[in-house]
Amino acid sequence: MTAVQKAKTFIEEKMTGNVPEIGLILGSGLGVLAEEIESPTVIKYNEIPGFPSSTVAGHKGQLVIGTLEGKHVVAMQGRFHFYEGYDMELVTLPVRVMKAIGVEKLIVTNAAGGINENFDAGDLMLINDHINQFGTNPLIGKNDDAQGVRFPDMSEAYTRSLLNLAQEAADSEGLKVQKGTYVGTTGPSYETPAEVRMLRILGGDAVGMSTVPEVIAARHSSMDVLGISCISNMAAGILDQPLDHSEVIETTERVKKDFLSLVKTVVGKM
Ligand code: 6GU
Repeated sequence: MTAVQKAKTFIEEKMTGNVPEIGLILGSGLGVLAEEIESPTVIKYNEIPGFPSSTVAGHKGQLVIGTLEGKHVVAMQGRFHFYEGYDMELVTLPVRVMKAIGVEKLIVTNAAGGINENFDAGDLMLINDHINQFGTNPLIGKNDDAQGVRFPDMSEAYTRSLLNLAQEAADSEGLKVQKGTYVGTTGPSYETPAEVRMLRILGGDAVGMSTVPEVIAARHSSMDVLGISCISNMAAGILDQPLDHSEVIETTERVKKDFLSLVKTVVGKM
């Protein structure tokens, strides 16, 4: 049995309710959303065959399966980052497992640094495209034809209809959201000011250390994707202040309310 099948079997044995159709990957400081899930089945990553235990502060390390706004969902409270030393196969394993248990729509969230100078810390950004700066690709290696094609199209990595739905949800709540391109880097060091200027010239609006691998895997297996970044801080060189992970947590804490209501409204409309 493959790692995906082992994890799938394990999770399905614990799952009591219906098959989840929406998957949520909750980034740094955004895991609180999982606390809103009703009739939850909670499975710690370290219990799931093939899953490592998550390590970053602000990341809990568990799957929460249940209902949110009447929809059957599975949420990852904490994800696996490339910078933790996990290989791309492990970073994308949860997406493959979600697909295997029936998830067709994925909402990926993250905390990111603002590159666009019109952004402010605390803004939410709907991701309309990404730039892969990991220097690698999670699909490198033998292609699993059962998952998807060898050369997957990325012309609409972020599903337009979901993006529009999220924009409408934000409008209906009177919530201002930004839209832009997410640049994924390995981390764990933040960028230098020169790198931030480079990423801006390349067309990036926000930069973070996740999301791109998961979205590539999700699109490979034909899932619809919605991406939301919480701009937790401005990237290096924009403001006259050093970057600190505690700011990331403080800001996500501050915008938690808006983030929660946006994602819940979107889930309800999906
Ligand atoms: Cl400024 N850069 C990266 N790579 N990730 C971040 C960030 C910055 N702020 C939050 N996450």
